[in-house]
Amino acid sequence: MKALQLEKPEHWRTIDIPEPSAPGPGDALVRVHRVGICGTDLSGYLGKMPFFSYPRIPGHELGVEVVAVGEGVAGVKPGDRCSVEPYINCQKCYSCRRGHSNCCEYHLTLGVHCDGGLRPEFIVPARKLHLAPNLSFDQCALVETLAIGCHAVNRAAPLSGENVLVIGAGPIGLSAIEFAKLSGARTIVMDMNPDRLAFVREKIGVPDTILARGDASDLEALAELTGGQLADAVIDATGSNKSMVRALEFATFAGRIVYVGITQQNLEFPHAPFMHRRELTLLASRNALPGDFTRIIGLIGDGKIDTRPWITHQAGFDEVAAVFPTWLKPETGVIKAIVHV
Ligand SMILES: NC(=O)c1ccc[n+]([C@@H]2O[C@H](COP(=O)([O-])OP(=O)(O)OC[C@H]3O[C@@H](n4cnc5c(N)ncnc54)[C@H](O)[C@@H]3O)[C@@H](O)[C@H]2O)c1
Ligand SMILES: [Zn+2]
Ligand SMILES: [Zn+2]
Repeated sequence: MKALQLEKPEHWRTIDIPEPSAPGPGDALVRVHRVGICGTDLSGYLGKMPFFSYPRIPGHELGVEVVAVGEGVAGVKPGDRCSVEPYINCQKCYSCRRGHSNCCEYHLTLGVHCDGGLRPEFIVPARKLHLAPNLSFDQCALVETLAIGCHAVNRAAPLSGENVLVIGAGPIGLSAIEFAKLSGARTIVMDMNPDRLAFVREKIGVPDTILARGDASDLEALAELTGGQLADAVIDATGSNKSMVRALEFATFAGRIVYVGITQQNLEFPHAPFMHRRELTLLASRNALPGDFTRIIGLIGDGKIDTRPWITHQAGFDEVAAVFPTWLKPETGVIKAIVHV
């Protein structure tokens, strides 16, 4: 059968791979229906993703159907529609034993560290499948992106009535915005791209946005919106080290800052005036937990998360190589592109 592989940066090729064998104990054979494309895939394509190795079959945001299950699998059966939790963990290390499967010491993300879903069928541990009978395959493929924001907001633990500032309104920031809204906190969104802020106001229904112009006007705008208090929790989803350093300034006294965006650069910030004086709590956020997937599938099924604004672009399996470069351009309005396999 045919699979789509990134042979090296900027080089897609269609390869022939053997049909998968019958699933072993604890595994399931799945048919891939939809693959969501995210920033990780775009960086992998450009050769800018340090965790990505080549050649690689990408695809970690998956809507799948179970074809067959191996011995001992009880949770899913052939025909079931599922979302995939693409974080393969060892189940043995200290992190896994304490329930932090999102940051297993030997963590592998499907489609990043090992081959993913841009192929008609593959074998996955059945414990990584989350049943989603009421979701479309498109919605199943959105669950992982939403899980990243869900976990980040859980780390920030906003309370109803608090002010949450999300910096960066790309797909990851948007996913955090969904859960900040659900927490009952007042959600404020900052970005330097006015089109992304317009999308947040018009399509996501968050009225309070701040345009970051690279001067102090953003801090003034936040102070005005919050009666001078600033944000109880700041979630930085930019991946920009400049923004991540400045994030401290937007937090109130005893506030929390969550870095869900990732930078390869060092972060340098003054300790005494912000970190110490305001007694800030700084948190990282990596991947997501199994319970986040279950919760999101329920929220989409109940209509509490509207997935309609999310999918802006679609393509067939055979079109990926040709259209992929256009998905690199934010000016084409891409939030989420979905590949039909
Ligand atoms: N924590 C995780 O497990 C995880 C998972 C996936 C992605 N990520 C990371 O999340 C980050 C965001 O991903 P994305 O796909 O949404 O990226 P994106 O590039 O689409 O979005 C980033 C947004 O931040 C804005 N921005 C950049 N610099 C800014 C600044 N100085 N001030 C205000 N806004 C600024 C951009 O205009 C853009 O809208 C990336 O760093 C990515 O690697 C983290
Ligand atoms: Zn992703
Ligand atoms: Zn582990």
